[in-house]
Amino acid sequence: MLTSGGDCPGLNAVIRAVVRRGERHWGDDLVGFHDGWAGVIDGRWRSLDVESMRGYLARGGTMLGTSRVHPWLTDDGVERALATLAELGLDALIVIGGEGSLAVAHRAHTEGLVPVVGVPKTIDNDIPCTEQTFGFDTAVSIATEAIDRLHTTAESHDRVMVVEVMGRHVGHIATWAGMAGGATVTLVPEHPFDIEVVADIVKKRHERGRYASIVVVAEGARPAPGTMDLAEPEVDRFGHKRLGGVGLAVATELERRTGYETRVTVLGHVQRGGSPTAFDRVLSSRYGVAAIDAVHEDGLGDMVALQAGLITRVSLADVMGHLRAVDDRLWDVANALFEARLDGGSTSSQADTAT
Ligand code: F6P
Repeated sequence: MLTSGGDCPGLNAVIRAVVRRGERHWGDDLVGFHDGWAGVIDGRWRSLDVESMRGYLARGGTMLGTSRVHPWLTDDGVERALATLAELGLDALIVIGGEGSLAVAHRAHTEGLVPVVGVPKTIDNDIPCTEQTFGFDTAVSIATEAIDRLHTTAESHDRVMVVEVMGRHVGHIATWAGMAGGATVTLVPEHPFDIEVVADIVKKRHERGRYASIVVVAEGARPAPGTMDLAEPEVDRFGHKRLGGVGLAVATELERRTGYETRVTVLGHVQRGGSPTAFDRVLSSRYGVAAIDAVHEDGLGDMVALQAGLITRVSLADVMGHLRAVDDRLWDVANALFEARLDGGSTSSQADTAT
């Protein structure tokens, strides 16, 4: 197996579950590649057994290391990866990764590099065909605790607090943490915002005597065209945009437009580090067991998924090319709780039972 892309709480719990189930139930010999596909390309790997995994269930990060390297982005990457895979004589490769890593896994499977099973990983929760990725619950808990703490200091100083959370393409963390933390308003990538409308919401709240406001901003949130300038993020050698900064831009503009003292907190990688919640430890363990079972039960080319609370499998082909955005019904409920909705729509009376 390998872990690929950004790290995420619960990675070690997945690896541990694969090893426990694989060794004890299926009698497998298991190996883990160091630093994602870099380990496959360079022939760097280690044996994994139940003993070697002791103490990892609650540990954040990945004991294997991770990277965004992949065979098609590396000189002779495919040939070198094939050589390692042939030398080891692997039956299958379990790839634990997010959107980009699962796309590479799908390509490796369809182009005959190695049969693959995918496990959906990301704190952003944007993988389609599954209700939840592991790591998301931990990130929401961390962001919510931070917002709880910001409430009291905001109230003491009568300040506006802007909190930037992760979420590059979608606003699941922002929506959930905003709801759980009682935010005044939440900005997500799915709904471009007008800063003037945000400023008005904060001003009206002040007029009603509420001097402290919390504005939650997903790192991928963007202003509606023509409403506010925002610098384009840099792109790294993997084509990955280095986000971060929209929170500061929103705070600066809000202070300028309202005259209220405003501070910004960027939670950043704090949301990705440290111990997974109990929910994520359980979800990761369920995914790990399902992934090694898929290897043995005709599930090659699939991704394990959570649907209606149960673990199932979906074809990796169905996961490709799209992302799971915040469901409109949940967004409606969230906006019923925020101070005002940003898009001017009315709050739906529909329950969000199918989100
Ligand atoms: O994809 C998960 C994520 O946590 C995003 O929300 C964030 O933009 C990105 O990873 C940051 O990754 P890194 O700093 O490792 O490039």
